[in-house]
Amino acid sequence: KGDPRLQAISQAIRVVPHFPKHGIMFQDITTLLLDHKAFKDTVDIFVDRYRDMHISVVAGIEARGFMFGPSIALGIGAKFVPLRKPRKLPGEVISEKYALEYGTDCLELHVGAVQPGERAIVIDDLVATGGTLSAGVKLLGDLQPLFGVGEGLSLFVYILFFFISLVMVQWMWSLLS
Ligand code: PRP
Repeated sequence: KGDPRLQAISQAIRVVPHFPKHGIMFQDITTLLLDHKAFKDTVDIFVDRYRDMHISVVAGIEARGFMFGPSIALGIGAKFVPLRKPRKLPGEVISEKYALEYGTDCLELHVGAVQPGERAIVIDDLVATGGTLSAGVKLLGDLQPLFGVGEGLSLFVYILFFFISLVMVQWMWSLLS
């Protein structure tokens, strides 16, 4: 907002009415890719926003997240990880289903591509219902460490409480006997 580059970027995106079906105003970013300045400005805006935020993963959603994600990843010094449609990735995957207007689809992530605790951003060309982006975020969220600082601390407190209870039971038992 307020960035003079945004208007030119917006104008570089072609709007195609009634594609792929009646009533949909298709936002065609291929025309943005043809315009070197608008394309570079788009990538630069994301790079300026996310550099120095200790982000080590840029996850791009198939297919159009692949057109912006790798450039942003190189710009902020992160790795690029593709979130793909089903049966495209050859290795072991974790999957996340999401709702479409009619039916469901699924995104997949290679196991081991992202480590628990890494900071990531998810890139796509647009958000409509938000279902695709939510699935991407959820896939990465599933990789949270089993015991983060908070959970590790509470596990420690539970174990401590268990031992204190054990000592108290032994002490009461010794008093009774
Ligand atoms: C489009 C777009 C987003 C998604 C947004 O992809 O590129 O990924 O729809 O829609 P949503 O917010 O309602 O989930 P599409 O489903 O056309 O897949 P494609 O990029 O593989 O053609």
